[in-house]
Amino acid sequence: MSKIENVEYGLEKIFEEAQDFLPLLGTDYVEFIVGNAKQAAHFYKTAFGFQSHAYKGLETGCKDYASYVIKQDKIRIVLTTPLNQDSWMNDHLSKHGDGVKVVALWVDDAKKSWEETTKRGAKSYMEPTIEKDEHGEIVRAGIYTYGETVHIFVERKNYTGIFLPGYEKWKSEYNPEPMGLKFIDHMVGNVGWNEMDTWVKYYEDVMGFVNFLSFDDKQITTEYSALMSKVMSNGNGRIKFPINEPAEGKKKSQIEEYLDFYNGPGVQHIAVASNDIIDTVAKMRAKGVEFLSTPPDDYYKSVPKRLSDHNHELAEDIEKLKSLGIMIDADEEGYLLQIFTKPVEDRPTLFFEIIQRMGARGFGAGNFKALFESIEREQENRGTL
Ligand code: FE2
Repeated sequence: MSKIENVEYGLEKIFEEAQDFLPLLGTDYVEFIVGNAKQAAHFYKTAFGFQSHAYKGLETGCKDYASYVIKQDKIRIVLTTPLNQDSWMNDHLSKHGDGVKVVALWVDDAKKSWEETTKRGAKSYMEPTIEKDEHGEIVRAGIYTYGETVHIFVERKNYTGIFLPGYEKWKSEYNPEPMGLKFIDHMVGNVGWNEMDTWVKYYEDVMGFVNFLSFDDKQITTEYSALMSKVMSNGNGRIKFPINEPAEGKKKSQIEEYLDFYNGPGVQHIAVASNDIIDTVAKMRAKGVEFLSTPPDDYYKSVPKRLSDHNHELAEDIEKLKSLGIMIDADEEGYLLQIFTKPVEDRPTLFFEIIQRMGARGFGAGNFKALFESIEREQENRGTL
């Protein structure tokens, strides 16, 4: 279904078509397997404004791994590192480098979520499991999605503890201020050649999601490389998972570069929402976060017309947006502001997007060309274009 058709059709109507056998309350947490969780936590606290939240490791009686939970408003990230050579996580690290293992979804009934999805063809990762401590109980269950990535359903209605049983409050003396990141807007998966529709069908059949936007390789292309993307959403629109696959171009697609370095499908980027992207990005830049290069002057010159074509007026100072490299895209419903970090590890794999929605519910299609030209300059520098 094309973007234009969707506008006529109405997004609410599309969301209604999603199946409600899997009601999702939101993203519960995202867990990364990393080489050194202690240092990664320091980076995300310093550079992204995350707060020390919870901890599990040798001091709490966990001898196999250490996990640091960092939090900013509704966003919870768990950074986990293995403590010994027998851990399965070592294989994950050697194969993928630092990356996302778990996209956990907050549900009212984890057992039912697992039953409904495995019944529809999902491969089980973790059977429904009750974890208890003095603060109550959590039920978790998990299924595989693309690559080695998994979804874990988390039922926490009978739990009052800090995070999950086994975790203690992380008391740190180093607590930088938050930087205005609010919640996860969407998380994007990269899958292999010709696999996008397989995973679109998986999210439709197994999780009851709907495909509400599609971009083909004619829309997402530059002179050199291309990709295709379909955006999947659950019924209340809170969970959005765009899925990308590479497409043929004159040179190597950025998705192919990801697949080469991640050794298969995985999470490409996490988009986090800010209510004041100018302030957030200025703070992140001051702490050393590297963003993709700022689009050229011509790009910013075209912004007023791109907004007025849709009868919108920019509330922000365009010179400020330009000085920070923040991009602007408009559609019928409003506009959005967005910017992308460079990969946050040495492999050109996972990166972050900062997004502020001013009514628009799209994903910045009008920015794709400027964005991908910027990514290609990076690929060129890496010798992977
Ligand atoms: Fe995005």
